[in-house]
Amino acid sequence: MIADLSVKLFQLELKNPVMPAAGPPVKDGAAAHAAKQGGAGALVTKTISTKAARVPRPNMVRVKAGFLNAELWSELSPASWIKEEYPRVRETGLPVVIGLGYTAREITELAPQVERFADALELSTHYLGNDPTPLLESIKAAKALVDLPVLVKLSPQGDIPSLSRAAEEAGADGLVLINSLGPTLEIDPETGSPLLGSANGYGWLSGEAIFPLALRSVFEAVRSVQIPVLGVGGISSGLEAVKMIMAGAQAVQVCTAAILHGPMIYGRIVREIEQFLTDHGYRGLEEIRGLAQKQANRSANFRTVVPLVKDENCNGCGICLSSCVYQAIELQAVGGPVLIKQDQCAGCGLCVSRCKFQALSLSGELRGW
Ligand SMILES: Cc1cc2nc3c(=O)[nH]c(=O)nc-3n(C[C@H](O)[C@H](O)[C@H](O)COP(=O)(O)O)c2cc1C
Repeated sequence: MIADLSVKLFQLELKNPVMPAAGPPVKDGAAAHAAKQGGAGALVTKTISTKAARVPRPNMVRVKAGFLNAELWSELSPASWIKEEYPRVRETGLPVVIGLGYTAREITELAPQVERFADALELSTHYLGNDPTPLLESIKAAKALVDLPVLVKLSPQGDIPSLSRAAEEAGADGLVLINSLGPTLEIDPETGSPLLGSANGYGWLSGEAIFPLALRSVFEAVRSVQIPVLGVGGISSGLEAVKMIMAGAQAVQVCTAAILHGPMIYGRIVREIEQFLTDHGYRGLEEIRGLAQKQANRSANFRTVVPLVKDENCNGCGICLSSCVYQAIELQAVGGPVLIKQDQCAGCGLCVSRCKFQALSLSGELRGW
């Protein structure tokens, strides 16, 4: 049985839930074609504003477990998008979400010009500050001018439930969470200078480091509104996409992983989601969407769970043992299996998350009350 990966987003039928996020992997029409080739189920285009951005150099750097960028919005003018790029994006035949920024004045100028190329708009709020008023004005401006669903992309800095509700009340048809996080800094140890070319050297953090923050943000937004929520931030495999959908996301977006690994990543993520659903006996995304919300109001667990060792899976690699701060794990012989000392284990759970061989699980014995 092949699991059903199709998704309905507003009036749009997506053949799968994976799309690029606004950024370099959708910086023009040619990139949009590459994203389609790579297996994306829909397209989001790089945010444009009324003027082409002047972007400092260098503007991207890989850091441990993440990625910093000092890009702004598109370096192409709205005129060149309208003349050259949007028509090329349209040729892909995929649903197209056009990224626009930022203020109500800018949205008022841009939205009517791009309407004929778009199936939906995505408003970026990245440079609007922490006061929600300009964001709400931009949503209202877009809704008053065009007959398209309007997605609003939120940054993770503010209070997600209240911002999400305010955006919904202002007319947003959907939310996208999260944008990159920061500002952040990286320094070249050879020169002592900031690595990015912005005046202060600051940039924005994305990639795997922000995934848990993105997941929590999506989880909270889904609980706060009735409109669909799209998850973005640190997704680079099917498993992260599955978790986002379990948090309640309707679909997911990918930026940093597509920069690092190229456009074929969309299709790879799609295949991995499909594999996950098949392996777990799910028939489609509907069966996993929002699963995590069912436990949203649970109370904290204070009972110690001593992990269970599946001896046949343990090869004695010792990773669990090296990070057991309670010295509760012992290697019985070279090649494993490990032994967990029941009386010393504090049930912190770290070893289970570090084991790469599914040799440990938290379905073990409960202790305490
Ligand atoms: C180099 C770069 C450029 C980006 N440009 C935009 C943009 O123009 N508009 C926007 O809304 N988000 C932009 N983003 C944010 C991404 O769309 C995304 O929200 C964020 O990076 C988190 O997802 P990721 O971890 O998959 O990259 C950019 C991110 C990067 C790394």
